[in-house]
Amino acid sequence: MLDKVIHHDFSDEVEALLSSMTLEQKIGQMTQAERQEISPEEVREFHIGSVLSGGGSCPGNNRPADWISMCDAYWQASMQADENHLAIPLLYAVDAIHGNANVLGATVFPHNIGLGACNEPELIEQIARITAREILATGVDWTFAPTLAVARNDRWGRTYESYSEDPAIVSSYSRHFVNGMQADLGDEAVIACAKHWIGDGGTLHGIDQGETTASFEELEKIHMAPYLPALAAEVQSVMVSFNSWNGDKCHGHQFLVTEILKQRLGFDGIVISDWDGIDYLSDDPKEAIRLSVNAGIDMFMVSVEWRDFIQNFRELLSQNLISMSRVDDAVRRILTVKYRFGLFNKPRPAARKFSNDSQYGSAEHRRLAREAVRKSLVLLKNDNQILPLKKHERILVAGRNADNRGAQCGGFTVEWQGTTGNDSVEGGTSVWEAIKGISSAAEYSIDGQSADRSRHDVAIVVIGENPYAEGMGDIRAGDDVIIEAGSMIRGKMNVLEPYGSSLELAELHPQDLETITTIAEKGIPVVCVLISGRPLVVNAELEKSHAFVAAWLPGSEGQGVTDVLFGEHDFQGKLSFSWPKHKDQQQNVGQANYDPLFPYGFGMRY
Ligand code: GLC
Repeated sequence: MLDKVIHHDFSDEVEALLSSMTLEQKIGQMTQAERQEISPEEVREFHIGSVLSGGGSCPGNNRPADWISMCDAYWQASMQADENHLAIPLLYAVDAIHGNANVLGATVFPHNIGLGACNEPELIEQIARITAREILATGVDWTFAPTLAVARNDRWGRTYESYSEDPAIVSSYSRHFVNGMQADLGDEAVIACAKHWIGDGGTLHGIDQGETTASFEELEKIHMAPYLPALAAEVQSVMVSFNSWNGDKCHGHQFLVTEILKQRLGFDGIVISDWDGIDYLSDDPKEAIRLSVNAGIDMFMVSVEWRDFIQNFRELLSQNLISMSRVDDAVRRILTVKYRFGLFNKPRPAARKFSNDSQYGSAEHRRLAREAVRKSLVLLKNDNQILPLKKHERILVAGRNADNRGAQCGGFTVEWQGTTGNDSVEGGTSVWEAIKGISSAAEYSIDGQSADRSRHDVAIVVIGENPYAEGMGDIRAGDDVIIEAGSMIRGKMNVLEPYGSSLELAELHPQDLETITTIAEKGIPVVCVLISGRPLVVNAELEKSHAFVAAWLPGSEGQGVTDVLFGEHDFQGKLSFSWPKHKDQQQNVGQANYDPLFPYGFGMRY
């Protein structure tokens, strides 16, 4: 038995409010709709408990002021009591998973895969604290983070959202992230959400939303372990995962959601569904609702069809297919979290302490992000000590990702799938911009064509992936690997177009090897910097480079890369993911016949 997690007690307030609520108001509190599908008036009319922004769903000009006025309008509507509507303040939620990166001008931190390489839990707490400040600056209450996935297959499009293939690193971070984000539920708090429960990183072939086949012991040891510190830190919400476990969808899994998470682990916050995740349970929407409510989900991210959800829910109750005690359990949890978060005592978003905070995107915040970048870099090769570079060296900068802040940031940045180019990542620096700031003589040639041995002593070539998110980041050799049980929506497959069909970079983006080759053939030594959301097979690129740095998805502060390339700081990063030898290999630390190209924990220093 695990110690039951003890929370502050608001039972008197909650029971008093619960007992005064109508059925309509209770069902409304259990409903979360997407901002583009609901007006403030409808929030009041249907007593909606929460509204979210899906990735890239941004109001107005996507400035903090636009977010505040949007959150303010929804909050005001939720608080406008009348004979039908009780004033119960609404929660607004976003995916601020590496800074409040939906919003223009935000500080964009490295994605989790890079933070895992820092192996510095205290840094995670600082990052979460600063991220909370930049979320509060926009009037938002709740972020769907931390992702506690333990990604076991690099082909998964969400590998970069995972700190490590090793549950020990993820576990060492989870409490710190929750503490940093929730700040003892004081007035600097943002509600955190541990996700996705459970086994999201363990699917066969790394198929997003696919099938995780594992014994309960394995599920507990690898995928559940990181949740224990998060629960102990009183995380106030947990999001259920799209994947299935041994063929059964998590969204309908009463054992995993109620018996394990709520009863055995004592979680007493909000269990929320993922985006239309209940649709996986049946092609009959009513049956899907029945299964997911009775599994123990409390709040339903029913994004678009929230009206049908409410109507179907009401019918299920009248048919006694859902019990009032289950509804009261869900609403009790939702109200308790709102009380714990102090939401009933907060002023309107526009009048809150940190709304429009001057520190949003500030140099101070960016310094922390820059520190995280340099600590996340992993040095895989450094022949002839070509690194650290000297500032007087005549440098050529090349590569698709050299001058691309969007590529540095990856998915969940301004757009769901991320962006490309520099313009949409305001306030940051690309690697090229950072180098230009150090060496005025540096030259730029994206494909390396202007490389000239008489003019260039060394080339920095920045290569790697374009931004992606979720299933659109999957690597799949072919559709035959899709696990039927893993991706059904109303009887249809819901498998997004994958990123590519091979983990080999030379197959995904051959122009990177071409650029390196163009330069190396002229006798100019190459320092290669890989911008990627996962380890990739880069044998050919490695062989032609004198030095090779894994930079992951560093975010807006490209200067963190040059801080190390030019020796201001030494490398600190150690691989939190094993590096594959060839494209059909999948290695995880601790497995039998462990034989990666670079092992978990590898990382050179000067
Ligand atoms: C997505 C993701 C989840 C995210 C949610 C809201 O589908 O699975 O991680 O929090 O929808 O954007």
